[in-house]
Amino acid sequence: MRPFHLVCYFFLLCLAAGFSGCGGQGPNAERKTYRIGFSQCVGSDLWRRTMLQEMQMQLSLHPGNELVYADANNSSALQVKQVCAMLEGGIDLLIISPNEAQPLTGIVERAYQQGVPVIVIDRKTASSLYTAYVGAENYQVGRMAGEYLAAQLAGKGNVLEIMGLPASSPAIERARGMDDVFREYPGLRVTARLYGNWLPEDTRRILFTNREKLRDVRAIFAHNDQMAASARQVLRELGLDNGVKVIGVDALPGVGGGLDMISSKVLDASVLYPTGGKEAIGIAINILGRKRFRKENILQTMVIDSSTVQPMKLQWARISSQQKDIERQRAMLADQFRIYEHQRLVLNVIVVTLVLAVVFGGLAFFALLENRKINKSLAQKNEEILIQRNQLIDMSEKAAAATEAKLNFFTNISHEFRTPLTLILSPLEDLLKLAGQGGQKPKALELIRKNVYRLLRLVNELMDYRKIEQKLFRLHVTPNDLLRFLEGVVESFGHHAEKRNIDLRLFGVSGLPAVWFDVNMLDKVFFNLLSNALKFTPDGGYVHLNLSLAPDEVLIRVKDSGVGMTEQELSRIFERFYQSDAQFGRGSGLGLSLSKELMELHHGSIVAESSKVEGTTFILRLPLGESHFQEEEKVALVQHSEKPYDELKVYTAGMEQDSKVETVSLPVYFNVHSVLIVEDNAELLDYLSDKLKAEYEVFCAASGDEGLVLAYEQVPDLIISDVLMPGISGRELAHRLKSDLRTSHIPVILLTAQGSMEQQISGLQSHADLYLTKPFHLEHLKANMQSLLHNRAMLRERYAGHGAVSSSAVLKKTGFSVLDKKFLNDLSDLVELNLDDEDLSVDDIARSIGVSRVQLYRKIKALLNCSVSDYILERRMQRAKYLLDTGEYSVSEVSYQVGVSSPAYFSTIFKGYFGVTPSAYRRNQT
Ligand code: FRU
Repeated sequence: MRPFHLVCYFFLLCLAAGFSGCGGQGPNAERKTYRIGFSQCVGSDLWRRTMLQEMQMQLSLHPGNELVYADANNSSALQVKQVCAMLEGGIDLLIISPNEAQPLTGIVERAYQQGVPVIVIDRKTASSLYTAYVGAENYQVGRMAGEYLAAQLAGKGNVLEIMGLPASSPAIERARGMDDVFREYPGLRVTARLYGNWLPEDTRRILFTNREKLRDVRAIFAHNDQMAASARQVLRELGLDNGVKVIGVDALPGVGGGLDMISSKVLDASVLYPTGGKEAIGIAINILGRKRFRKENILQTMVIDSSTVQPMKLQWARISSQQKDIERQRAMLADQFRIYEHQRLVLNVIVVTLVLAVVFGGLAFFALLENRKINKSLAQKNEEILIQRNQLIDMSEKAAAATEAKLNFFTNISHEFRTPLTLILSPLEDLLKLAGQGGQKPKALELIRKNVYRLLRLVNELMDYRKIEQKLFRLHVTPNDLLRFLEGVVESFGHHAEKRNIDLRLFGVSGLPAVWFDVNMLDKVFFNLLSNALKFTPDGGYVHLNLSLAPDEVLIRVKDSGVGMTEQELSRIFERFYQSDAQFGRGSGLGLSLSKELMELHHGSIVAESSKVEGTTFILRLPLGESHFQEEEKVALVQHSEKPYDELKVYTAGMEQDSKVETVSLPVYFNVHSVLIVEDNAELLDYLSDKLKAEYEVFCAASGDEGLVLAYEQVPDLIISDVLMPGISGRELAHRLKSDLRTSHIPVILLTAQGSMEQQISGLQSHADLYLTKPFHLEHLKANMQSLLHNRAMLRERYAGHGAVSSSAVLKKTGFSVLDKKFLNDLSDLVELNLDDEDLSVDDIARSIGVSRVQLYRKIKALLNCSVSDYILERRMQRAKYLLDTGEYSVSEVSYQVGVSSPAYFSTIFKGYFGVTPSAYRRNQT
């Protein structure tokens, strides 16, 4: 993992840890929140409001939990509906104070069976299917009220009971409790039971309706304080309030509560009936939190009257003040908690930031160290590169100096060549003149002359180029009639063009102003261009010079109908020393490059266009006027340079030979041996052919490709080939011939100017038999040829002398090449297998081996010095001799087995071979 990824990962971890810490450890940590449904039978009275308040207060200690509250307003049907809605809406626990027992039993059981915990509070259902019950024991409430009345009334008197709802469980149980006490006091009697339905208004109504029942009543027991207060009011209104004891139930503290009523003598006493709101929520939280809880939670109760009401009120006041304190503290705690939460968040952010700062700091430090390391190694590399660069500069300077020295040497030595060449040329011209007087000039002298001129041209080009390179060329420009100048040049080549039927013409333009140029330099440019154009234009073609005038310059186009150039050749023709395949080995490769330099010296240009179909056009531009030349470059008079030789001849010498290889029709000699000469230099080819034709049958090829075709066609006894040629090289030629069954036996001599040891080795590696470097001595070449042919003959004789050519042991010892050995083996196998076939023909064998009839003949002749049929006959006779030796066959049988159908004829040829008839031979054997 890369440092950056590590940091990101760490950063996320920190954030996760930091922010989960924000809420993780506080008072509300990890608490799940719940929805608690609270279905209240009626919510309007003080007791029920107190119950709700207690619940909310208790629940506030468990924040996050929600109390879903519904008030059924004394209607059992509505309460059933409300509970249904709660269950459907989704609650985690149901607290219910059922309005009436029976009507609510079904829905409570359903909730319980659905898995929703149910806490029944205050009133009950008719079923025990609930999770917990919270409330005071109503039977006890009834009993306490009974016992209090018994004590107050001294066990005597009538009591009126105002009941709650008839079907509600507290009403039933409270009445039962009181009944059970009264049974113990015979003087006490419940004279009437009226239903106030827990409500003061209903109580008032029912009491007025039953007012006569109040007449002899000594006490009234109402099931809650509100009904009791209403009863007291009715008593007062009816004037019956003369010492009647009124007691209620609930004894609520606070304004309007039961305790106030006792203090204000509205009630004589009240049985404390706690709401259980706080306890219900406590139990609910335990149930939901899966903590222990009790199913039945009975709340304490007691009777409060005027004697105990004061301490009760005081206690209540204290409790409520404590309650308020708690509330305040809770609020403060909540504030503190908020601050704490905020500070924790800030702290976490600071911690994370700090950790990140440390990590990033570490990384930055690490990066710094790495950077330093990298910088150090870069500096080191830089230094190495610098050293290498300096070495390279040094080396290239040395190389440049060496090249310069070499070029200087070449230039100097070339210069030195000029004198001897000139000295050769003059007597040569004399000799030619002398010889010419006899009618015909000797070919050898012509050859020497052409080559002397060629050498002179090469030397001149090299020297001119060096002059330009060393900026030694000085222009001597004069105003000239360009048309006349070009006419002169064209005229110089007229003779040669005419001889080859080439249309050489100059198309001029009238009104041409004088053009400033150096006559001697432009001479070189045009002589070079025209000699090239003529060289590459076939007989009957054309070379046209076109002169035209543009506003500031003069244009000369030299267009030929020659062989043209490829795009690649065209792109390189002005490069120094560049030689295309087409002009291979025919010049210095400097001519065009030199022309370009000369044109540029004149502030002009030369470009070429060419295609293989249309030939080549050179376009030359010379600026008009003289302002572009420096004063010292301008001269008054044309100074034709003194030349010890004819400039034109330098360009035209050998042109005829170069452009067209003279096909000398050799007299057909039926020489013993044939030789194929492959040489692209027409003169050398001609020379060799001339010198060898007396002793050999000579075939000539001007390129490697041509040589290959002739070798397959003629299967000569020997091949002499140049190495560097256009198309396939001499080495490639040797390699191909030696790998081909048809020609593998032919000795190959490679003849080349490349004389280094490596080159010789490479030549021999191509399986050439001999490698001779130019210049070679003709006699030396001839001696080598004879030696090679002699060795071949010796080999043949040795081989042929063995007779049994199928023997691989014999083949191994011979000096044949692998391919030739294979050929002889295949031939032997083929003939051996078909010896009994009388019709076995030369054609069959040639076809099987995959060569032509002639090739087979020449191959066998070359390798074994016999004809194919002689070879077959030899094999037949050797087999016959062997079969006779075994003594197993008769003479006629042997005759058939060796493919001779006439035993008489077999006898004749056997005798011809071995000097005895087969029968006599057999006799001698036995
Ligand atoms: C309030 C109340 C109380 C009584 C209780 C009985 O609605 O009437 O006064 O004690 O209900 O369920």
